[in-house]
Parts: sequence; structure tokens; C-alpha cells
Amino acid sequence: MIIGVPKEIKKDEYRVALLPVGANLLTSDGHTVLFERGAALGSGFDDETYAEVGAEIVESAEEIYRRADLVAKVKEPQPSEIEQLRPDQTLFCYFHFAASRPLTVGCLKSGSTAVAYETLADPRGRLPLLTPMSEIAGRMSIQEGAKCLERPMMGRGLLLGGVPGVAPGEVLVLGGGVVGTHAARMAAGLAAHVTIMDINLDRLRYLHEVMPANVTTIYCDPHTVEEYAMEADLVIGAVLIPGDRAPRLISRALVSRMKPGSVIVDVSIDQGGCAETSRPTTHSDPIYLVDGVVHYAVANIPGAVSRTSSVALCNATLPYLRELASKGVDAFAATDAGHAAAINMRNFRLTNAAVAHAFPDLPT
Ligand SMILES: NC(=O)c1ccc[n+]([C@@H]2O[C@H](COP(=O)([O-])OP(=O)(O)OC[C@H]3O[C@@H](n4cnc5c(N)ncnc54)[C@H](O)[C@@H]3O)[C@@H](O)[C@H]2O)c1
Repeated sequence: MIIGVPKEIKKDEYRVALLPVGANLLTSDGHTVLFERGAALGSGFDDETYAEVGAEIVESAEEIYRRADLVAKVKEPQPSEIEQLRPDQTLFCYFHFAASRPLTVGCLKSGSTAVAYETLADPRGRLPLLTPMSEIAGRMSIQEGAKCLERPMMGRGLLLGGVPGVAPGEVLVLGGGVVGTHAARMAAGLAAHVTIMDINLDRLRYLHEVMPANVTTIYCDPHTVEEYAMEADLVIGAVLIPGDRAPRLISRALVSRMKPGSVIVDVSIDQGGCAETSRPTTHSDPIYLVDGVVHYAVANIPGAVSRTSSVALCNATLPYLRELASKGVDAFAATDAGHAAAINMRNFRLTNAAVAHAFPDLPT
């Protein structure tokens, strides 16, 4: 199979979908690897390292989209990439279709097969290709949120951990999955007072057992969200219904009643965001204000720590990429329900139930 790895062109995206070790293993498996010149420079890997292990360095993304059977990327294809997709081509990357109708319709019209990192599940129902980026985004959400609380960033002028004689900040984490757990741990480590909410009681029981004493678990319902959001200095949006649009937990009316200078870091923005007032931002222009509340909603948070993220991502994706390349899409999908769930579209139809739920008018 011909596997292509283009340079990421989404704004402020520096990750790469394949490390030199991956190129080495894929060529050893008998595949051809096309690697766009400079695609890994943002993550600190040079072209020569890829060429030395047998990758063919190509000068343009066009060549990759023209020649490759399977394209491995990090972020969803951008409009100029969607135009080049072919019906006999498979794209393996993050898509987050539910957050964008133009992306979904564009990819569907191309007839290409979309194998999505974010909906691939392991036999225990976990999301092994979302997890490493969620670990990073969860940790970064606190470091970015703490920065946003500083006055020059339009925040309340608060040091998250406080100091002796001054109370620490109140952090509310909505969703106690991977992002939420890592965010809560980081915030707790900075000595903030942390509340973590979820609708999964078993998850809350687990978090209650493993979290330090400055983390409280609370069942998530509209009343508790309202009560705790109004007291919070920093809210982390970390909810997920895999494949579907993020549940809206924070209304515009609630934002208007939050403390001025408080901060919402809506990590779930890649699935549409859990605050009504959230809209996607970029690392170059990450924040905006609504009713005095700072909103940070960068859709590719791990892209900023590209070295760590590329390694963490490829550690998780490479076994699946090798499997996809050696088996082909149909045999890959037939492996088990978790593999099948990764196929979001094929032959001009949506094939993942949650994505189809987000777009009931599109063909299934
Ligand atoms: N912006 C970024 O750069 C970035 C990076 C990584 C992950 N993400 C996103 O972060 C989000 C969370 O990812 P994750 O890996 O932590 O998911 P996860 O599945 O591990 O956790 C999600 C949690 O949300 C809970 N939940 C669902 N509906 C809820 C509701 N109505 N109220 C309260 N809790 C609810 C679930 O029970 C679960 O525990 C996803 O949208 C993911 O795509 C964004």
C-alpha cells in the first residue's frame, strides 16, 4: 500500500502523524511511505531521518493526495485538502465531524473513507487514540487557564494556588474522563480547590478514591452546574459523548451570571463546546470575552506542545496504522465493534451511528 503523510496545514498545528520509527516499520512491512518535505520539522524531526529509514520525501501535499491509498494525518482535512480526496482513498486522522457540517458534507461528497482516531474504541470501550491527546489537553487546560486568570489576559488577577493568607482559586471541571482527570490533578497539584462533575456515578466513585483531598466530586445536573459555575474562577469543559455534539451545560444566561474575569477553557470545543458562548479559537488568538468572562477554546490544544504530542499520538496510532495498511479498510472494520466504530464514512455514506445522529439528513 502507498501511505502518505502530508504536512499539517491547520493554523498553529505543528504535530506530525508518523515518527521515523513508524516510517521504518511501515517500509519493513513492505509498504511505500511518501513523506512531505518538512512535515515533522515542527515536532523536531528532520527529513533525513525519514529518508534514512526508507521513506520517499516528496515536495508537495498534492503529490501525496494524488498517489497515496492511505493518508495519515493529525487534524481534520482543511478545504484545500478535501478538494483533493479521492473515492478510493482512506484518510486516517482526527475528524470530529459532529462539530462541523461543511467538513462532514465535504468529506462525504469526496467519497473517500474516513477512519477517525476519536471514535476508534478498544475492547473495553475506551478511546485509545483520543486518550493521549486528552491527557495532554487536560494538563494544558490548567496551565492555559491559570495564565488567562492573570490580569493582562483579562482575567480576575488571581494566582490559582493562592499564597499563605490568601485563598486559592476555585476550579470546576465538567466531565471526569481523561481530560477532566488530568486537569483536576494538575489544578490540585497547584493547590487550587477543585470540583469535578460527571453524570457517571461509577466514575465519580473512582475519582473520589484516587484524587487528593483538595478535589471534591459532585454529580452533574443543571442545578449543580449553575451553583458551582457561579462560584468558579476557572471552568474546564471536558465532557464527551463519543462522535456526537458536546452536551451544552453552560448557557449564555449562566455565563452572564459568572464572576467577571473568571475563565472558561472549553476543551470540548472540538465537538462543538459545552458552553453556549464557546467558538473555536487558535493558539495565535486564543481568547475572547463574553460578559466579562474570558473564553479559551483552542481546538487543537496539544498542537502547541508538538514534540510531546507527536510522540504520544504516534505511540498510540502506529499499531492501528500498520493494521489498517496491512488488512485494508474492510478487514480492519471487521476486526471488532471498536474498529468498526472508527469508520465514520465510506462510499458516500455516514457509517458511525453518533455522527449520523448529529446529521440526521445526511445519507447513511
Ligand atoms: N481542544 C482540544 O485540543 C482537545 C484535545 C483532546 C481532547 N479534546 C476533547 O475533550 C473532550 C473530552 O475528552 P475525554 O477524552 O476526556 O473524553 P472521556 O470520554 O474520557 O470523558 C468524557 C466524560 O464526560 C462525561 N459526560 C458526558 N456527558 C456528560 C454530561 N452531560 N454531564 C457531565 N459529564 C458528562 C462522561 O461520563 C465522561 O466521563 C472531547 O470532546 C475531546 O474530543 C479536545
